[in-house]
Formats: sequence, structure tokens, C-alpha cells
Amino acid sequence: MFSKGENIKVKVAPSLLSADFANLKDEIQHVTDAGMDRIHIEVGDGVFSPEITVGAPVVKSLRKVTSAILEVHLMTVHPERKIESFAKAGADIIIFHIETTTQAEAVLQQIKNSGSKAGVAINPATPIVMLEELLPIADVVLVMTANPGFSGQSLIKRTLNKIKKLRQIIRKENYDCILEADGGINIETAASVRQAGANVLVAGTAIYDSTDVFASVSKILGEE
Ligand code: DX5
Repeated sequence: MFSKGENIKVKVAPSLLSADFANLKDEIQHVTDAGMDRIHIEVGDGVFSPEITVGAPVVKSLRKVTSAILEVHLMTVHPERKIESFAKAGADIIIFHIETTTQAEAVLQQIKNSGSKAGVAINPATPIVMLEELLPIADVVLVMTANPGFSGQSLIKRTLNKIKKLRQIIRKENYDCILEADGGINIETAASVRQAGANVLVAGTAIYDSTDVFASVSKILGEE
């Protein structure tokens, strides 16, 4: 959880992976109308993550229809080959997976040089030590609380300890990176993720399968 002095606002970032891909403009409007301003776009390549999802042309089109923050989550091999096209498409934030490169620091700098904010993600089985050297320069750290690829999975409880440890490091070193969690976050699990110290909660099913998105967001944020 956050210390008394920490004034850290927790936000929900709806994941488009759970949205109706035939109506993405409306699906974005649906969540921005509910007060969410950070759209999480899952980019799967069928190699690093099992499901092929969307590419830069889709982000380019979505950029024209929303002023919301577009956060691109590259669940792909060779992120270095994709950064320029997503940055040109209008991604505000580009997140790559630490598991996909031996050149993580260079990839992070490449994202920053592209003009987008830079994030690094780790899978449930990847220890946080793998990205500790990037914490001073990363804008976002994304802890996968489910395995990349599909929405609707259950949260892997062991990953909460990783969030707690990262929050402690960020607090101790006074880093200003955002600590994000993605996978299986819903009205039942959100409190444990907030208490662990994540301040952006990615949610797909809990938002797009909800009959009352306002109520779902309030419950996920612990406001109800
Ligand atoms: C996995 C995705 C999912 C998704 C969130 O590749 O990253 O974690 O965005 O889906 P839910 O909220 O349904 O688990």
C-alpha cells in the first residue's frame, strides 16, 4: 500500500483486448464517458504471446478518434522493430517485455527517443531483479498478474509480492515511474492489487463485460 505521505492516485486503464473490435471507436467512447482516460492496447504477435491482436494501423486510426492516453503493450518479440511504427501511429506510451530482448536499456531509450513514454513489463514467472536497473529511467513498470495473451484469466496471487517489492523500491529510491498491473483485475481482486501498491490497474473483462461500467470502476478503485 502507499505510505501516508504518498499522494498517489490509482487509475483504471481499460484493456481493449476485451472490447468489441468491430466497434473500437464506440468502445473507447464508452470508457472515456465513464471517466477513464488511459486506454491499454494489447499488441500480441502470436509468438511471444499466443494471440495475434492489433498493429500500428489500428492505433493510427484510434488516435484520430480519441484524446485519451493510448498505452501500447507490446507482447511481442523484437520490440525494437515495432517502436517507430507505433510511435508514429500516435502511441503516448509504449511498453515492451523484458523477456524479449538482451538490450533492454537500449530498447527503453529507443522508445524515449521516439517521443513516447517508455515502459517495461515482466511476466508472472520473471523475477523483478530483471528490471531493477531500468527503474530509474522507466516511465512505467507493468507487472503481469496473468500470462500474456488472453483476457478473462485469473489473477496469479504470487505476483502481488512482486508489486509490493517494486513499490518498496520505488518509494525508497524515490523513483517516479508508474507501477501498473495487468491480468485478472476485477472487483474481487482489485483491493489486493491496490494494497500491494499498483497505481494503474489494467482491466479488460471487468470493464467491457460489465453492465454498469461506472459501478465497476468505482468498485475497482475502492470508492464504493
Ligand atoms: C493478457 C492481457 C490481459 C488483459 C486484461 O495478454 O494483457 O491481461 O489485458 O484482461 P482481463 O482484465 O480480462 O484479465
